[in-house]
Amino acid sequence: MKSVPEVSSRGASAPFIAMEVMREAAVLAAQGGVHGKRIIQLAVGQPSTGAPHLVREAAARALQKSRLGYTDSMGILKLREAIARHYDEHYGQSVSPDRIIVTSGSSGGFMLAFLACFEAGARVAIAEPCYPAYRNILKSLGLEVVGIPVGPETRWNLTPELIAKAESRHGRISGVLVASPGNPTGTMLDAVQLAALAKSCEAEGRWFISDEIYHGISYGMAETTALAFSPDALVINSFSKYYSMTGWRLGWLIAPPRMMVPLDRLAQNIFISPPALSQEAAVTAFGATEELDANVAVYAANRKLLLEELPKAGFDNFAPADGAFYLYTDISRFLRPGGNADSTEFCKRMLREIGVAVTPGHDFDTTRGGQTVRFSFSGATADMAEAAERIKAWLA
Ligand SMILES: Cc1ncc(COP(=O)(O)O)c(C=O)c1O
Repeated sequence: MKSVPEVSSRGASAPFIAMEVMREAAVLAAQGGVHGKRIIQLAVGQPSTGAPHLVREAAARALQKSRLGYTDSMGILKLREAIARHYDEHYGQSVSPDRIIVTSGSSGGFMLAFLACFEAGARVAIAEPCYPAYRNILKSLGLEVVGIPVGPETRWNLTPELIAKAESRHGRISGVLVASPGNPTGTMLDAVQLAALAKSCEAEGRWFISDEIYHGISYGMAETTALAFSPDALVINSFSKYYSMTGWRLGWLIAPPRMMVPLDRLAQNIFISPPALSQEAAVTAFGATEELDANVAVYAANRKLLLEELPKAGFDNFAPADGAFYLYTDISRFLRPGGNADSTEFCKRMLREIGVAVTPGHDFDTTRGGQTVRFSFSGATADMAEAAERIKAWLA
């Protein structure tokens, strides 16, 4: 008898550890918390607020009035037009709706972009630390990931020089993927740095993919889109973060005109269409700035609070948190033989002993992540204050 094969090497993906921490935190919360304390969630990067009121009202109307069947695989035209207007109003960039495809979260955009841009086996460069799904999706699609270690020397960002060096070590690099603000660091590229990366990719014949999902959430530094610097850049964005719509699974991808037919065909076959209800509602999201900026003011207060309180507990060497809602910090002083062996154990104990969920650095950096953790401050300020008090007492 023939035996059914084991899982394929592409299917044997590494976990997205933050999601696993979220799962354990949810189980503990359902059990009533730990040692009489409720669980505080600082592991996953999702706003604790719901979608803006305008969006919820539009969803309620659509639920009554629309059939909510499959939509055009590129997304409904009025949403693509609304996204195009946003680029005009927010960045002063004129983008035709024909270059915009609505996706199932930015995650759907990654699948489409990676498939449309790269042959199987191609090398794609990413910074380490970075958002873990980049590495895991690329690998699952049969692409070779070139993780380039970054740190304070380059403000945790890739540079054309680092990419050239990696190419001389690993061989031809076909594409570069960056995020600004980044995850887990929150660090941003300024316009000069982003332009240098986009233009060097263009000059070297590489795809440049710019993940701009945290645009809208920054603390003083100006946001620029890669669209301003290269007609060949692919820009990925989402309604998940600034728009506070994680569960609505909606994002968008902007690509050069010649890529739109291939992207559309991939989208038709893989996703058929993005979620209809979410699209109908999201048309109104660009009008909800006042409500959404109030959320960002909460993130700013949370960031300030944690940057004041966490150093009192002994955390230091924070990456510059220019945007997004994360603090990425060193924990080597809390590690010792016989005690916490690494960030995974440190985070497990923090959750099980004081009910505070944070994400171990292993998720973001496969080589150095044992010595770092990421705090997400996307929740309520009272939760940040309570978490900081518990952590200070725990580590005292
Ligand atoms: C940098 C980055 N890109 C993409 C995503 C995926 O977001 P979504 O698929 O919800 O748009 C995340 C989620 O945390 C992220 O941090």
